[in-house]
Amino acid sequence: MTLPLPNSHPPPSIQPLLSVRNLAKHFPIKSGLFRRVAGNLRAVDGISFDIASGETLGLVGESGCGKTTAGRAILRLVEPTSGDVTFDGINVLSLNAGAMRAMRRQMQIVFQDPFSSLNPRMTVGATVREGLIIHAIAEGAAADARMRKLLEEVGLRPEYASRYPHEFSGGQRQRIGIARALSVEPRFIVCDEAVSALDVSVQAQVINLMQDLQRDRGLAYLFIAHDLSIVEHIADRVAVMYLGRIVELASREDLYREPVMPYTQALLSAIPIPDPKTRRRRIVLSGDVPSPANPPPGCPFHPRCHHPSRDAACSVIVPPLEEKASGHWVACIKQPPSMVSWESQKEAGGTRQPERHVPMMAPT
Ligand SMILES: Nc1ncnc2c1ncn2[C@@H]1O[C@H](COP(=O)(O)OP(=O)(O)O)[C@@H](O)[C@H]1O
Ligand code: SF4
Ligand SMILES: [Mg+2]
Repeated sequence: MTLPLPNSHPPPSIQPLLSVRNLAKHFPIKSGLFRRVAGNLRAVDGISFDIASGETLGLVGESGCGKTTAGRAILRLVEPTSGDVTFDGINVLSLNAGAMRAMRRQMQIVFQDPFSSLNPRMTVGATVREGLIIHAIAEGAAADARMRKLLEEVGLRPEYASRYPHEFSGGQRQRIGIARALSVEPRFIVCDEAVSALDVSVQAQVINLMQDLQRDRGLAYLFIAHDLSIVEHIADRVAVMYLGRIVELASREDLYREPVMPYTQALLSAIPIPDPKTRRRRIVLSGDVPSPANPPPGCPFHPRCHHPSRDAACSVIVPPLEEKASGHWVACIKQPPSMVSWESQKEAGGTRQPERHVPMMAPT
């Protein structure tokens, strides 16, 4: 039995540039000789959030939890199964192909692997100019001048325009990817593990560049990463995903200082602290992430959860994403307060009262 509970949403920020509501992407699982649809893989299973102009929302979670699919579904690089995406008041999912192409000028993506996302047979200059031509922003000498200026803006020499991607380092290639995304003057960029493949020192340089560009241009970012320590440097707010759902969403300060969802607590406890004299209690996550093709009933995290009040109700009730403190949204029925009363938890087999559990996260 799974109790149907209202799905609550984070409140709209003052003026969201992007609003995502109940967004889902299910991939059909085909089997047998005739490739019949045998089920659905719930890669993204009803996520909601807002991003304001100039804001960075970090999206974190273990590999396979649906981050990339979420970013791609927002841009309709994969077609969402259901939900709503509104950008600057426009219903993105209702746009026809032509209108969607025009919309992509405002919504861009930077990928993890700059090498495979750049055409090896196109010079850097042609790569960056391409968007200018497609969107009829500039042509001829004007396009050339803009392309050179963009290269300078991302820290590359304009003379590099005639070179090919293989002539550059990983960090330089990521700068080319950023210049290409910026060429069409977007207002929102999905950065999908954009710095994950780079060395730590190069990561910091590219993140600094992205922050400078954000300040200068008022860009909004959805910054996807599996590494929480990277997100801490760039995000204003952070959403944590588990098995296709958002399980915690809060300001960066609140999330890193006092994570409330047991999953976030475990993820954060694994981040090493640079000072060797300090330690924090490590919460070891047991078991693997379950398959999104066959998610556990109730709270998707229950087979791995360390909360002392975890009980049978956790494997029955799907925890709604609830605002536990101002702006701090958490999907856990055992962290009070919860709209799922103790009475209904008992009805679902619960034996342990909800009790606030926030293990010591600060260095001890
Ligand atoms: N095109 C696809 N067809 C079928 N399954 C997919 C496809 N793309 C992603 N998935 C599955 O969706 C889940 C989420 O994947 P993904 O969004 O790439 O996660 P993440 O970016 O968090 O690592 C995974 O189980 C993955 O195997
Ligand atoms: S609802 Fe239960 S299983 Fe899920 S995170 Fe909370 S305590 Fe753990
Ligand atoms: Mg991914």
